[in-house]
Parts: sequence; C-alpha cells; structure tokens
Amino acid sequence: MRIFLDTANIEQIRQGAKLGVVGGVTTNPSLMMKEGLADYEAAVKEICSIIAGPVSVEVVSEEPAEMLKQARKMAKWAPNVIIKIPATLAGLEVTSTLAKEKIKVNLTLCFSLNQAILGATAGAAFISPFVGRLDDIGHNGMELVEDIVTVYDYYNYATEVIAASIRHPQHCIAAAKAGAHIATVPYSVLIQMMQHPLTDNGVARFMADWKSAAQKSKK
Ligand code: G3P
Repeated sequence: MRIFLDTANIEQIRQGAKLGVVGGVTTNPSLMMKEGLADYEAAVKEICSIIAGPVSVEVVSEEPAEMLKQARKMAKWAPNVIIKIPATLAGLEVTSTLAKEKIKVNLTLCFSLNQAILGATAGAAFISPFVGRLDDIGHNGMELVEDIVTVYDYYNYATEVIAASIRHPQHCIAAAKAGAHIATVPYSVLIQMMQHPLTDNGVARFMADWKSAAQKSKK
C-alpha cells in the first residue's frame, strides 16, 4: 500500500518527503483554506515541486461546464496534477469527459459501492471512499473499502482505491488489510504510524547500556 499525505501544509509535505515514504498528496478546498493559501495555483505548483507522485487538486463548482473549465486549467499546472471531482451525477459526466481527454481524475466524496462502480466505469484513475466520515455516522467505513477492492478485482478495473478520511493508525492497518492501493493520511497519523513506546524504551535502554559499558571500560 502506498502512502499519500492528506494535507495542503507545505512544511508537513516537506517533512513527509524527507522520510521518503510519501508517494503523493491529496488536497481539498477545506485543507487549502485551512492553510490560508489564497493563491491556489502557486500552492499546487509548490506541492508538485516537492512530491513527484500524484497531487490531487479539487474543482470548486457543481456545474459540469465550470468543473470542466477548472479541471482543464488545473491539469496544466504540473504533470502530476490529478483532478478531484465529487461523486455526483455532474461529477460523473465530467469524469467521463476528462478520462477521454486523458486527464486523470480522483473521484472523491465516495460513500457507496455504486458510486465506485460508476466512477471506475467512467474511467476515474482513483476512487476515494471517505472512511472516517462513514464511521462518524455509525457505518463501518472500511467495509466500503473492502467491497470496492473486491469488486474492482473481479472486473479488473484499473481505478486505484485511495482509503481517505483516515483518522488514526488503526485505519491505516485496516486499509492495508482490505487491499487499498493507497491510504491518504494526515501528517499526524503518518508520524503515529511509526511510533511505538517499546521502540523508544528499547533505544533508551541500548543507549544507557552502551554509555555505562563505555564508562566501565575507561576505569
Ligand atoms: O481525504 C479526504 C479528507 O481530506 C477528508 O478527511 O477528516 O475531513 O473527513 P476528513
């Protein structure tokens, strides 16, 4: 499973890139606004200069003609830009058109298997089931990821599954077990994925033993 960062924070993207495990970035209008990035284009270009893999950028319209206009413009910002389109009827129409133009789409705000089937049929490069938001309303978000992976496997769909709206490290483990191609995670979750108290204790004990042995050998 590949790991993408779900953030528009440039410093977090730089830090993540240093770890060498971040294969892409996903943004959305809320994440962009959180960072106060008024110049959307400049921010996306900067992210694309840090991360070579797919960088998802979302259109901000509900009307097909305007979505298409924005998508075609955004797709020219950098070769690794992926256009995030919401899983609505208008979004499906736009996805089909963009796919024919070889512009890669990440169909976002996916909450059902039917949306995922139609998205793959329309030619979306990625589908983003929102796990955390389904959990929030009492569903099991990861079951949707499992179902999409199973059905895509049956029919050899090329669409890659991005487990999105990831809230904690257990979601990452479940996404990997479900066979998601990608998990897009907040920076805080990426850090938590690597942390373990027994590792920290082990390192501290090794360091202490090393120092005490070195002191004894000096005597
Ligand atoms: O990748 C989707 C993500 O940005 C939404 O996450 O936590 O707002 O549901 P969240």
